[in-house]
Amino acid sequence: MRRKYIVEALLREITQTLQVSRIPRAAREAQLLLMAYFDKDELWLLTNQKSEIELDDTFFDWITRRSRNEPFEYIVNRVSFYSQQFYIDEGALIPRPETELLIDEVLKNIEDKEAAIRLVEVGVGSGIISIMLAQHLPNAKIIAVDISPKALAVAQKNIENFGLQNQIELREGSLLESVDEQIDYLVSNPPYIAEDEELESNLSYEPQNALFGGQIGDEIIQKLLDEVLRQKIKFFSCEMGYDQQDRIRSYLQNTKIKSLEFYQDYSSFDRGFTLKV
Ligand SMILES: C[S@@+](CC[C@H](N)C(=O)[O-])C[C@H]1O[C@@H](n2cnc3c(N)ncnc32)[C@H](O)[C@@H]1O
Repeated sequence: MRRKYIVEALLREITQTLQVSRIPRAAREAQLLLMAYFDKDELWLLTNQKSEIELDDTFFDWITRRSRNEPFEYIVNRVSFYSQQFYIDEGALIPRPETELLIDEVLKNIEDKEAAIRLVEVGVGSGIISIMLAQHLPNAKIIAVDISPKALAVAQKNIENFGLQNQIELREGSLLESVDEQIDYLVSNPPYIAEDEELESNLSYEPQNALFGGQIGDEIIQKLLDEVLRQKIKFFSCEMGYDQQDRIRSYLQNTKIKSLEFYQDYSSFDRGFTLKV
């Protein structure tokens, strides 16, 4: 059913609904939902406060879903990352801003951006890492792996939207089991949260196998480290939990590596590392 509203009155109504459900920044969320529904920008919102608009049930379903604390990004099927827009749905983790630092870390280590290297990503999720790297490394071939077919479907959509099908190949599989080729650079933002850690309610909407890395949390990181050492992969950049540096350092004690450097996030917490073998 379609209904007519005046924009400012509608925004007041939605704000109230979201406030009752204790959604933070309810007034802003109401604006963002309305802009996303009409695919309009801030200027439209500013200049159309007194305009009459027509909405259908989809919009009110969105409000109900947001009131239940479903993440905004899953409702509107859009997420911004590294200043670009990506498709997202519940099949894949919502990209986090700190993952931009992992991309910077990889780019920092690749001196020749034109080189024809083979880069592998484990745990591609929505595809944001592989897509951003492909854009900066035009001659790199990227193999992007995920254990989840639903995540791969999201990545596929984004890779097509960016026209990068020739540069990024998706493969289903666990860790590196589907990759026989020699790897020049391995990158991963694996699940790294401990199984018993209590998370905020909105995280329950995200794929659990994208979040939890095992009983301790760093089990998948350790398996990737094993592969890096076994295959002598020269570069490995990986995101990790803020408290995982010590365990990673001691896991690599007495192994033959060139260097291990950790990087910090925007709040100065440890967030990842680059291992050179
Ligand atoms: C933290 S998410 C990262 C997604 C995306 N790369 C990003 O940075 O937003 C981890 C991803 O790893 C995948 N994953 C979990 N276990 C895996 C495994 N054993 N092998 C390959 N991928 C795995 C999950 O399905 C999920 O898509």
